[in-house]
Amino acid sequence: MQIAFQTAANIEDKTNADYNLNNPEKTINPLLQGLYRRGIKKVFHYNLSDLVKDGVLIADGYDINLNAIGKDGKLDFSYSPSKRALNDFDIIFARGDDVNKKTKEKALQIDSLEDTVLINSGYATLSTRDKFEIPKRFSQYPELIPQTICVSKEEDLKEAWGTINTDYVVLKGRYGSSGKEVERFPRTKEGYTQAKDYFKEMGELVAQEFLPEISQGDVRINIFDGEILGGSKRIPGDTWITNISNGGKMRPVELSSEIIKNAKIAASLYPETRFQGLDITYDSGKFIETNAFPASIGHMNVLYGAHNEETILNKLIK
Ligand SMILES: Nc1ncnc2c1ncn2[C@@H]1O[C@H](COP(=O)(O)OP(=O)(O)O)[C@@H](O)[C@H]1O
Ligand SMILES: [Mg+2]
Repeated sequence: MQIAFQTAANIEDKTNADYNLNNPEKTINPLLQGLYRRGIKKVFHYNLSDLVKDGVLIADGYDINLNAIGKDGKLDFSYSPSKRALNDFDIIFARGDDVNKKTKEKALQIDSLEDTVLINSGYATLSTRDKFEIPKRFSQYPELIPQTICVSKEEDLKEAWGTINTDYVVLKGRYGSSGKEVERFPRTKEGYTQAKDYFKEMGELVAQEFLPEISQGDVRINIFDGEILGGSKRIPGDTWITNISNGGKMRPVELSSEIIKNAKIAASLYPETRFQGLDITYDSGKFIETNAFPASIGHMNVLYGAHNEETILNKLIK
């Protein structure tokens, strides 16, 4: 079995590799652990930027040898530079962490591989990163998302201030992630002036009604092929947003039937995204976004003492 990982991790930088590739609280390490347990001790890793098309798709990356696994789940690994044709791989696990406006075309290249299973495809990675997709995907279920307006020009922003009637309007960069491009502005004249500056700085945005219930947290639900692997609640830390990277805290939660129902609908609206991490508000079950190849498998493993990667790998590796 030939397995590759396409992520933004920098394997030559130990701190970065420890954090992005070998952290049991994220997702790549649990998958590597699962592969190791199956006797797969060699994988290939490359960055999206290292991809070239020379008849076939070739990546300039690293062979990783998994030598041993510690009690803490960390893998002892060594690596060496290597150049590989991607059509040699049975499975490519592709994270979207280096996909953005500039790398869009490149991200789609792996989708031309005919015999390789992609978790997830380049298209899935893009569609879940692109917040303009949200109102399109939910066109039959507008009640399941916050009111959303795509902002490509100043008039769109004006429309948002005219039609959204919550105290704040949330603005998010179209391709933002980890809460880095999420701000809320008071729906006042002053707030509008600030929002215009934000638009000038950021470019395309989505504008959304602000859901005050976010103070009660939201629920991250990991899904593979429509099956729920697990869920946990995220409570805001020092800020009003729940992203773990912004100080949000994960807590165990029992999923209500309403949340399960909404999560399944939401997952089905992104059918190309086999492995996703959905964020749904805790109180009313409104969809915030879905993330392809989410980092939360490891979080939930630690929270519940689980091995969620097993469900995924059991389906992929017979
Ligand atoms: N409309 C909203 N109302 C209230 N809180 C929101 C809203 N949209 C997002 N949030 C909060 O901000 C966080 C980040 O927003 P999200 O759309 O997930 O962007 P990112 O891709 O940066 O994670 C969410 O997890 C949630 O806590
Ligand atoms: Mg998010």
